Amino acid sequence: MKKIFGVIGDPIGHSMSPAMHNDAFERIGMDASYLPFHVTKENLADAVKGMKAIGVQGFNVTIPHKTEIIPLLDEVDPLASVIGAVNTVVREKGRFKGYNTDGLGYVRALRESFPGSIEDQRVLIIGAGGAARGIYYTLASEKVTQMDVANRTVDKAKQLSDACPYPVDGVSLTLEAAAAQLETYDIIIQTTSIGMAPAIDQKPISLDRLKQGAFVSDIIYNPLQTELLKEAEERRAGTQNGIQMFVHQGALAFEKWTGVYPDVKRMEELVLKQLGGNYANR
Ligand code: ATR
Repeated sequence: MKKIFGVIGDPIGHSMSPAMHNDAFERIGMDASYLPFHVTKENLADAVKGMKAIGVQGFNVTIPHKTEIIPLLDEVDPLASVIGAVNTVVREKGRFKGYNTDGLGYVRALRESFPGSIEDQRVLIIGAGGAARGIYYTLASEKVTQMDVANRTVDKAKQLSDACPYPVDGVSLTLEAAAAQLETYDIIIQTTSIGMAPAIDQKPISLDRLKQGAFVSDIIYNPLQTELLKEAEERRAGTQNGIQMFVHQGALAFEKWTGVYPDVKRMEELVLKQLGGNYANR
């Protein structure tokens, strides 16, 4: 019998996950379908119950449900639990278990593109929302110990680092304070929505003091090149957009469902092709 997978979110119409996963299922010869499901907040609990009742084998969870889904699951992986967000659900012996592959997807992508080992680098994370938390905790769990967090609301940055269960040596600071000491960072990770529509021509931080040889990574992939990355490239820094993170979070979810890590290069090409028609600034 065909196995059913999917993604729930609101909105969901532009999700690139169905194309990516359906292609990957086809490649491994599995009789499966991955569908987008538009689920509003009021319907989340019913949707999860319904998916369990009809035998859905696994699904992704996207905005705005990543936190609210937690109490609706039978079990949550410890890292997802400390991050406080689930983006992947797996049916295991009839029970729904939640995982977070966003943070790990990001770290895989960073390891793939950063020249050298990431453990000894001084890292600045810009932003203190859900995405920042996943990335910070996963990096910390992988022994990246020198990490500062800069955020418009410094209190939120402090809360994020205070709640981290792994040892980190770092401070919370304003965006301006981070910009003023930017030359102390080897890796800068941008996790806010600045750079995405409607803030497409904005940057969260000035790169005037960027260290020579620094690496600037932005988790936004639409547009493929944010203003921040454009300037980083002009300053001849290494750069990375959010495509690889997106692809690796999907690949990690696919692996949890099937036991197979898919061809991420092929996934990346598919996503780029899909973005081809509608990404914002090229
Ligand atoms: P996500 O789950 O995608 O991380 P989020 O939890 O809403 O989204 O977090 C959004 C992040 O972008 C926060 O760090 C937010 O800063 P605040 O904590 O001060 O709100 C940041 N952000 C969003 N819009 C911003 C803006 N115009 N200027 C500066 N920071 C902004």
